[in-house]
Amino acid sequence: MDELNIVMPPGQAPGRSFSLKLRSGETGDSIMMFEEAIPVGTKSTFHLHRHSDEVAYFLSGEITFKIGDEVTVGGPGTCAFMPRGVPHAWKSSGAKTGRVQFLYTPAKAGGLIEEQQRTGRGFASMNEHEFDRAVAAPRLGTARTVAALSPRRRRCRIKSGRRTALGRRLMDITYRPAKAEDLEEAERVAQQSGNALRVRHGGQPSPAPPSVAFPKFCRARDPSGLWVAEDGDAIVGFGFSWMAEKFWCLSQLFVKPEMQAKGIGQALLSKTLMQAELNGAANRALITFAYNIASTGLYIKNGLYPREPLYRMAAPAQAVAQIPADAGCDITPIAPRPESGEWPAGEWIGRIDQELLGFRRDLHHQFLLGGGAARAVRIEHAGRAAGYAYISARGHVGPLAIAPGIDAKAVVTTALRCALEGGARQVSLLVPGRADVVMQTVLALGFRIEVPLVLMASRPFGNWGNYLPRDPGFL
Ligand SMILES: CC(C)(COP(=O)(O)OP(=O)(O)OC[C@H]1O[C@@H](n2cnc3c(N)ncnc32)[C@H](O)[C@@H]1OP(=O)(O)O)[C@@H](O)C(=O)NCCC(=O)NCCS
Repeated sequence: MDELNIVMPPGQAPGRSFSLKLRSGETGDSIMMFEEAIPVGTKSTFHLHRHSDEVAYFLSGEITFKIGDEVTVGGPGTCAFMPRGVPHAWKSSGAKTGRVQFLYTPAKAGGLIEEQQRTGRGFASMNEHEFDRAVAAPRLGTARTVAALSPRRRRCRIKSGRRTALGRRLMDITYRPAKAEDLEEAERVAQQSGNALRVRHGGQPSPAPPSVAFPKFCRARDPSGLWVAEDGDAIVGFGFSWMAEKFWCLSQLFVKPEMQAKGIGQALLSKTLMQAELNGAANRALITFAYNIASTGLYIKNGLYPREPLYRMAAPAQAVAQIPADAGCDITPIAPRPESGEWPAGEWIGRIDQELLGFRRDLHHQFLLGGGAARAVRIEHAGRAAGYAYISARGHVGPLAIAPGIDAKAVVTTALRCALEGGARQVSLLVPGRADVVMQTVLALGFRIEVPLVLMASRPFGNWGNYLPRDPGFL
């Protein structure tokens, strides 16, 4: 085949380039091989390939590899083998640009590189159709792929078919980007999976699936974070992540109860993590149920560690009515954020977000101000912005941001008073353990813990004394 040189799209390290040696289509999906030039300091994320083994042969330079727990430094002639399912990462650690030959077998894991080469673009910049084609093409289970397999490989796949606890033969699970029309079914899977977990831990089942509004909003802007797992025609798992600047957040990961502990959660997580990788994420985070050891263990295995405890706290509206009408701060409604054009509130809101979280999330404010929340208010103290609060129709407060140096008690009581005004029967919020003033304030009003949660992240971030997330998936 002709050698194809690829220059990485904008946003990737300058000087980094690939040249394809063997494409999957030319080897019956058996092998994909490419050579990569990796400038000093270039590194991969700590990731794994569920379905492909990987071999790296170093041609020049010095590369530090971490495979599982083991760290090795290699020079020209070193050969590294990374079996499927084992997390690994590498960094060009020498004094000059290194060159490495990478090989995947089966070729599946190389599909992304091939597509980047074909389009010359990163996934974040593709439209929906292009993205679907990019990520769906190399997956197993399509008629085209099966037909291309040699008889020997076809036999192998049939032999590796698994059985459920009931003895039913599982079909191969396929993973594909979520389409807009999948979201209702995907959220029903989330409801079923979440309810089984809640009930197991003494909680109440949720009567309705989570809303599709936020995943729909995020998908329309960057579809690379939304994936479904299918068994035949049925969706059995859903993974959804979003990015704001260089921050990646896993919003939802759910697998049907009877399909759990079979590797589907890990596979979906790996798919969503590609969004982080392709966008050069500097941090990865999520909020999960603190009592779920499976999700906590899964995320730790993928390099996201428990950083902050959080509690969903709730109280009947009467409890909040004790707060005096003048709770200490003034409020003004925040005007909707237009799709494009000037957004005057963006400046001070962006400043607070930057200060508290380390990044701006203008698009997410657009979602909330475009109908995602019932009410949005700017909270003022002595004439200056003391924070902001969003309030849902059901009396849930969040995100609630308290500007540094401002009396947290005055801000939170002002926000709680606002929540009452919508006529909700209950008021709730998500309080980080570190937000001690807020916690004392709501406990004194009679709030009780409903759900213990934990924020997990690859690196510590955020001022959790001053920021109350909206919900686990929104942050
Ligand atoms: C969490 C969830 C998505 C994981 O999906 P899954 O398909 O069951 O997970 P997988 O089979 O891919 O991986 C299970 C992993 O959990 C981890 N795990 C499970 N029990 C564990 C334990 N006791 N200690 C540490 N890790 C544990 C392991 O990493 C395990 O993988 P391994 O056995 O290969 O080491 C799924 O169980 C689920 O939907 N749970 C209910 C909803 C939920 O909590 N979602 C997370 C919301 S953020």
